[in-house]
Amino acid sequence: MSDTADMTHLCGSSAPPGVPATDLHAKRANALIARMTLAEKVSLVSTHCPLFSPLAQQYNMPLATGFNAGIPRLSIPALRMTDSGLGVANILNKREGDTATALPSALSTAASFDSSIARAGGAMVGAEARAKTFNVLLAGAANITRDPWAGRNFEYLGEDPLLVGTLAGAAIEGVQSNNIASTVKHFVLNPQETGRMIMDARIDPAALRESDLLAFEIAIELGQPAAVMGPYNKINGEFGCENDELLNGVLKRDWGFRGWVMSDWGATHSTEKAALAGLDQESGMEFDVMLNGAIFFTDRLLEAVRENRVPVARLDDMVRRILIGMIDKGLFDQPVPNHPQPIDTESHALVAQRVAEAGTVLLRNERNTLPLGPAVKSVVVIGGHADVGVLSGGGSSQVRSVGGVPIEIGLESGDAAIFARQTWHASSPLNAIRALAPGAEVSFLDGTDKALATKAARAADVAIVFATEWRTEAVDLQSLSLPDDQDELIAAVANVNPRTVVVLETGGPVLMPWLNRVSAVLAAWYPGQRGGEAIANILFGKVNPSGRLPITFPAAATQAPRPEPAGLEQLRARDAAREAGNDKVRIAPFSVDYHEGANVGYRWYELKNQQPLFAFGYGLSYTTFSYSNLASTGSSAPQVSLDITNTGKVAGADVPQIYVRATGADGTTTWRLAGFARVEIAPGATKRVLIPLEPRTYARWDVASRQWVFASGELQIAVGRSAADLVLLGTMTCSGGLNR
Ligand code: BGC
Repeated sequence: MSDTADMTHLCGSSAPPGVPATDLHAKRANALIARMTLAEKVSLVSTHCPLFSPLAQQYNMPLATGFNAGIPRLSIPALRMTDSGLGVANILNKREGDTATALPSALSTAASFDSSIARAGGAMVGAEARAKTFNVLLAGAANITRDPWAGRNFEYLGEDPLLVGTLAGAAIEGVQSNNIASTVKHFVLNPQETGRMIMDARIDPAALRESDLLAFEIAIELGQPAAVMGPYNKINGEFGCENDELLNGVLKRDWGFRGWVMSDWGATHSTEKAALAGLDQESGMEFDVMLNGAIFFTDRLLEAVRENRVPVARLDDMVRRILIGMIDKGLFDQPVPNHPQPIDTESHALVAQRVAEAGTVLLRNERNTLPLGPAVKSVVVIGGHADVGVLSGGGSSQVRSVGGVPIEIGLESGDAAIFARQTWHASSPLNAIRALAPGAEVSFLDGTDKALATKAARAADVAIVFATEWRTEAVDLQSLSLPDDQDELIAAVANVNPRTVVVLETGGPVLMPWLNRVSAVLAAWYPGQRGGEAIANILFGKVNPSGRLPITFPAAATQAPRPEPAGLEQLRARDAAREAGNDKVRIAPFSVDYHEGANVGYRWYELKNQQPLFAFGYGLSYTTFSYSNLASTGSSAPQVSLDITNTGKVAGADVPQIYVRATGADGTTTWRLAGFARVEIAPGATKRVLIPLEPRTYARWDVASRQWVFASGELQIAVGRSAADLVLLGTMTCSGGLNR
């Protein structure tokens, strides 16, 4: 019997009546495992990195992130992996000329507070990846942000577990709608870049459930990713990729996750221990050679199985999980094309623009400076390379965008130097502004000469300063201030022009010492491949801003739970040793006590009674909204309804945020975001909006019984314009109880 004929009774996506498709997929995986040799099984549980593996050429693998050749004898397809959190990545342009559509940073998606926008972004990236022959996307970043300066904040969806989990789940669902697989990453509590390979993130287990783990729990339920990627660091003493409690305990047992766990690239540290703790696949094995001195899941695993240090049943489980993930998502039955296919780049660019438009946050707008209108006769645009493009974040998520790279600046030193460059996408805000202001004289100055910029600003009706702050994977910021004297430039311009608008292109919160002197501020994050157009559309009112901050902007770095990145001392000691010629010195291990527990972001500010610069959830519009008639149902499917009226003169979208006051396992009581919506409303109109609530956001985790404990009785609820501006208060009666 041929391999294909043998499989027919188990193939096809529609199961016979009464049999769940997932059961059929498991049977199909088991039937394949039954026909594999031991060596074949072992061959599936590791991947190569094409950039470093001579086998890449032999198997015709694109120079991307990872591959496994599959088992042609059994028609098991190859795994073709690419980073793709913000678009199909092409690190250092290794696939020369292979461009892709670049989404804005994930913070922009998060600021939309809109699952459909996250889903559309994921679907677009998945479609491009598929067309480029990739079938496993290293996407779905679901880490919550604990520190405002963390280097990868731009890749993440902010600080709130519900927002992060909901949008990560939607993005994953979008990716996988292309019959390809996505990861969710980096599981879990992968909070900073400083010492990321060795740091030990310590946290109370109940707090972990109520925060970082809750974000993943929601993302996995909604997105059903085929795979989970473990992180580099340790969590409570064990590396994330050999952490029995998190992988076997939480993910596989408590949550019933049926797919596979892969390591991050260079994050596998052992054979037996990792395999028994729940790691199913060693990723990019060449990285483990470089970073950890060995490959763990090839010959060593074979030997461990032969010696029964790792039972063959566990190896079968590893293989089964990989196969189930592949079958579930369509890798067998809807294989990716053998050769790259054409991509509709124009419609994809509009998806990116839509994210930027929905995710840009208007932080300040004194005297209705914005939107700019036809009365404006002269505009000077200053700084940020706004004449040619918009900034993007660095590292493994870097996309070579359609349209080219107008500016690319390499790094001379630091942990990101080998794989990151400061890269601008070719979307010129200046050109887009000119297109929308045909009657105005629009000039540009690069901002390096403060005197020149001030002179031009004095003469112009409006001065728009573009300020940039670059972040990258592998490095945390050591200051929340804008670099390169940009604060001084903004202050100088604001001193001479009362209509000074600041557009921030940053990878997270920054300090704004000049805030009270400028008339308007837009947080555009890294706005992606159509960022210039999106920013101009907002400046001129073609788009009414509706983004809300997914992350608190502190008034000072000292307001955060830690005053600076942990481990800086160890990092500096290593750098000093290296400068002294000792190349081999590694950063000394250290641990970080996440003492704030589940009180991340806005909850921390509430507990400490601190006034941030801008609160989580904050954002202005060119119209205004009012709330009334709050009602709630606290049943097993709790929900809130309210009337929202657009009380202004233009159409706009509002983001009502429902907060519930609750007590966590540590005994602290805070408001928690339990539901949200993004609603478009015509001027003068009122809409009744129904918002489902996620009860786990206001439950407490009981470690001993491994269950959520839901409060009973009356809970306080509130509709907020932000976490710090609760405008309509009410109560909700809950019956309480336990689950799982
Ligand atoms: C990152 C992952 C990425 C992997 C492969 C790692 O450095 O942490 O997010 O998927 O590299 O490029």
